[in-house]
Amino acid sequence: MTAEPDQYGVVGHPVSHSWSPFIHGLFARDTHQSLTYRLFDFTPEAFRERVREFFAGGGKGLNVTLPHKMAAAQLADELTPRAARAGAVNTLAVRGDGRLLGDNTDGPGLVHDLCDNLGVVITHRRILMIGAGGAARGVIAPLLTLEPAELLIANRTEDRAQALAADFKDLGAVSGVGFRNISPGAFDVVVNATSASLSGDVPDVPPAAVSAETVCYDMAYGKSDTAFIRWAQSLGCARAIQGWGMLVEQAAESFRVWRGIRPPTAPVLAALKERATGLPSRAPAT
Ligand code: ATR
Repeated sequence: MTAEPDQYGVVGHPVSHSWSPFIHGLFARDTHQSLTYRLFDFTPEAFRERVREFFAGGGKGLNVTLPHKMAAAQLADELTPRAARAGAVNTLAVRGDGRLLGDNTDGPGLVHDLCDNLGVVITHRRILMIGAGGAARGVIAPLLTLEPAELLIANRTEDRAQALAADFKDLGAVSGVGFRNISPGAFDVVVNATSASLSGDVPDVPPAAVSAETVCYDMAYGKSDTAFIRWAQSLGCARAIQGWGMLVEQAAESFRVWRGIRPPTAPVLAALKERATGLPSRAPAT
């Protein structure tokens, strides 16, 4: 008798747009792992109970996407330090003793894409993070670990940027401002962590933040260039990159948490870009 494949999936609401089954299917194939990976659309009201049912039924792991990332952090029996810092969980894994571990692989996903795939240097560089919501929160600690000269969080609502920066002050040189108070001079790297691209908007950031040496990264991605990418290109930036790589890298990190093996990401990223169509979505949305 052949053993049943291990069960995984992504839980969100809605979730039908998710690329995760495609990505994890390729990871499983490429690493010769026997597993299933399905979509689970659970409402916020049902989230806790349905997730518990999934694991009680033998499920091994779940990715968690909007709007459940904070609820997943509350549900987990134990959090990794990076999930505790982010206050959000995008990966649930059942441990040997049956306890649920909550992890967050969004930040490592961004850092892997920037540093390993794209060769972008963060250490000693000036980094501008646009946005102060959950997506920004998830990536601040891993960026600070790389010791940038400055990590400036700029947000439409200044208070949120300041509050977010205050939460990470102990990790490095981070501060928070409104768009009008962005310090002068171009940044080496500008990361768009707002949800503005999803509605075709560009945050009202001064163009002087971008020079011909600036790498611009949108955590959003779509079939065609996002509004932020077009804005960055119009300013003559060095490179403008959508978040497809972050999407694949955070998935690879989740796969490693579950299976103990990190799958090769380059072929999956290439396949995903070829296959992908439709409206912009966002990298941390798994
Ligand atoms: P998420 O968890 O996806 O980050 P969120 O917590 O609602 O979602 O945060 C959305 C972020 O995008 C916020 O930083 C928001 O700015 P405000 O805090 O001022 O609301 C930002 N955002 C959304 N649309 C924007 C726009 N058109 N221009 C600038 N910032 C925008």
